[in-house]
Amino acid sequence: NGIKRRTRAYEMNREAGRFFHKYLYSPAGKEGLDYLYGRGLTDHTIRTYGLGYAPDTWDSLKKHMNSLGYSDSEMEEASLLSKSSKSGNYFDFFKYRVMFPFIDVRGNIVGFSGRVIGGDDNRKYLNTKATAVYNKSTFLYSLNHAKNAGKSVLIMCEGNLDVISMYQAGFKNAVATCGTAITDSHARNIANLGFKKVILAYDSDAAGQKATARAMNILDKVGISANVLTMQGAKDPDEYIKKFGKEAFQLLIDGSQSGMDYELKKIRSETDLSAPGGKSEYLKKAVGFIANINSPIDRAVYISTIAQECDVNRANVDIAVNQIIAKRN
Ligand code: UTP
Ligand code: MN
Ligand code: MN
Ligand code: MN
Ligand code: MN
Repeated sequence: NGIKRRTRAYEMNREAGRFFHKYLYSPAGKEGLDYLYGRGLTDHTIRTYGLGYAPDTWDSLKKHMNSLGYSDSEMEEASLLSKSSKSGNYFDFFKYRVMFPFIDVRGNIVGFSGRVIGGDDNRKYLNTKATAVYNKSTFLYSLNHAKNAGKSVLIMCEGNLDVISMYQAGFKNAVATCGTAITDSHARNIANLGFKKVILAYDSDAAGQKATARAMNILDKVGISANVLTMQGAKDPDEYIKKFGKEAFQLLIDGSQSGMDYELKKIRSETDLSAPGGKSEYLKKAVGFIANINSPIDRAVYISTIAQECDVNRANVDIAVNQIIAKRN
């Protein structure tokens, strides 16, 4: 039944995690360990996150797990083995990668992410498929650490290595969605754990900006206010900390702006307010964003801001916002 399958999956993942970690520190894991050292991680950090190595073989994990009594089919169900549709043979799901266990808030390994370190597999990261214990729409990487950091603020970023670099630099309240867009369940989990505010620290590329806009809406719905951290000269928090140091990253956190200020600034930078129709274009876009805010008070604040900026009567901006809200309901 379900509970038995889940228990079994936790057991298998724990064994696999142990296997990958041991392998990393064996002579045969040197390439993986060197990769992680090259990314600036210390042994202490590697141990804290239980990082590991999946060797460049087809069946190392399979053999190990078979010897402990786990069958191929149940390992396939746990996304630890794949089955070839041609030959019907089973082989290790993760191969020639450094391994990041996905650990839930209770301390169970629910899955893994593996990063390529060489070879010809062009998928940079490979993650556990949906299983009895892993659902990418609810899981947040490093929430087990972040929830014990004693902070009401959570830093949210894209990647496991961003989180780990932040942790090593002393920012222990960071989590990542690991290649998945943030969902309503992620937001509810965060709210239920008592976090009041999220600092969005997504990558500085277009994909990251899109993810930022999406996250602001989703977090707003559960009453969490979002700030946006913007980086210049680096593409993600990991790279930023490596290049500029933790003090500089702290300054970015301190200087992070409210989600709405970030959005308004972005729209403003895309519009020429002094051109004919510029103000009107800016106001129309801005009103669209303001109508998405749940709190009437916050809406009022931003309505005043943009009305003043464009020197128009705020009552008219009010009407425009209310029209959008009415249309939607
Ligand atoms: P990025 O594409 O920003 O990773 O993906 P990166 O910063 O270039 O990777 P590094 O620093 O060189 O290792 C961010 C996150 O999205 C997920 C991973 O969790 C990754 O950390 N991702 C990315 C995937 O799941 N699959 C992919 O193919 C790529
Ligand atoms: Mn990339
Ligand atoms: Mn990215
Ligand atoms: Mn990166
Ligand atoms: Mn990145």
